[in-house]
Amino acid sequence: MKRISVQAANGTYEVLCGRGALRELPHVVSRIRQEGAVFVVSSPRVWRHCGARVEKLLGGTRRATILMNDAETAKNLSTVERACRHLVRAGADRRALIVAVGGGVVGDVAGFVAASYARGIALIHIPTTVVAQVDSALGGKTGVNLPEGKNLVGAFYPPKGVVADPELLSTLPPREFRSGIYEIVKYGVIGDVKLFEFLEKNMEKVLRRDRAALGYVIERSIAQKARVVSEDEHESGLREILNFGHTFAHALESVTRYRKYLHGEAVGWGMIAAARLAVEMGMFSSRDEDRVASVTARVGPLPAWPSIPAAKLIAAMQADKKTRAGRLRFVLPERIGTVRCGVEAEAEVLARVLRACAGGAVQTKAAKSRRK
Ligand SMILES: NC(=O)c1ccc[n+]([C@@H]2O[C@H](COP(=O)([O-])OP(=O)(O)OC[C@H]3O[C@@H](n4cnc5c(N)ncnc54)[C@H](O)[C@@H]3O)[C@@H](O)[C@H]2O)c1
Ligand SMILES: [Zn+2]
Repeated sequence: MKRISVQAANGTYEVLCGRGALRELPHVVSRIRQEGAVFVVSSPRVWRHCGARVEKLLGGTRRATILMNDAETAKNLSTVERACRHLVRAGADRRALIVAVGGGVVGDVAGFVAASYARGIALIHIPTTVVAQVDSALGGKTGVNLPEGKNLVGAFYPPKGVVADPELLSTLPPREFRSGIYEIVKYGVIGDVKLFEFLEKNMEKVLRRDRAALGYVIERSIAQKARVVSEDEHESGLREILNFGHTFAHALESVTRYRKYLHGEAVGWGMIAAARLAVEMGMFSSRDEDRVASVTARVGPLPAWPSIPAAKLIAAMQADKKTRAGRLRFVLPERIGTVRCGVEAEAEVLARVLRACAGGAVQTKAAKSRRK
């Protein structure tokens, strides 16, 4: 088990990661809790899988368990209100501690509840999906969706501690599991050659959830995310590198109304497209593009690229909240392990890349190198 520190504006917190990390929960809680009661926020499904274990570890400190629907459609203000009202009825005061047990949806909602209840109460994340362990539980972004769009209401609210135990991932459905692995590939490309090479050699082990291999890639990813958000908590600079593949991914998700791809799958496509764009712009080698496409393809079959005209995808990219004044800027790789932010691409080059993805040229290339 490893301890990785994250620096946030209001202090440093620790991420315990690796096998056996969950057993440390009582110590983490006793360090953070200020005599207040502990309130668990989870979902019925997650709680069915690991509730008994967490309950046992929390012992008599747990006052109540609030189970919320963790479908993406329930990540909204009504769910926040219900959870807050439940806290009031259960007697939560300003010293209360929330322990969020679940994937990104539970974490984002519980985090926002912790940020706003009594103007802020302590929070511990126990992430139970790959995405939550390597991404959403660290960095302090919390929030919910509005009918107008995703994550439009929220707060930066770092937890007091994170316990990321890969053992909790054993019950995760295969597609959810693979979806998180694409984000791990992302960490390799943006800043960790060693992680990328490990994935090239050991992808099958990771996909089998081999303890040692999975533990290693999760720990490397957490270290990377911790480094980035410690340096740039509020996304004014370095944190932008985490958006590698995401300009394309958000467009793919939005044109398919979030129904066709899991987020990580859209990121998988996004990385393939970004690598192609970087080659087109003369800043990345075809050989490295093949490596990115091949590792991504090995994670599993991606739902097909949508049959949607390039112009419509470009319009969706321009509507993304991360675009500045409608100008399309990308995070593109220079080498495996190094990316450049804010690269502007001409519409014509971009359209060519999108057509190549739609036409199957890029997939065929990836599949070929996958067979090698
Ligand atoms: N705050 C951030 O920085 C950040 C970063 C990335 C993603 N997110 C958000 O995270 C959400 C996606 O989160 P996610 O990918 O973790 O998925 P999720 O929370 O939607 O969970 C996916 C499914 O897996 C189930 N599940 C969770 N853990 C399980 C387990 N151990 N065993 C069996 N089933 C389990 C859940 O019940 C759910 O049905 C999105 O809303 C996204 O916006 C936030
Ligand atoms: Zn992502």
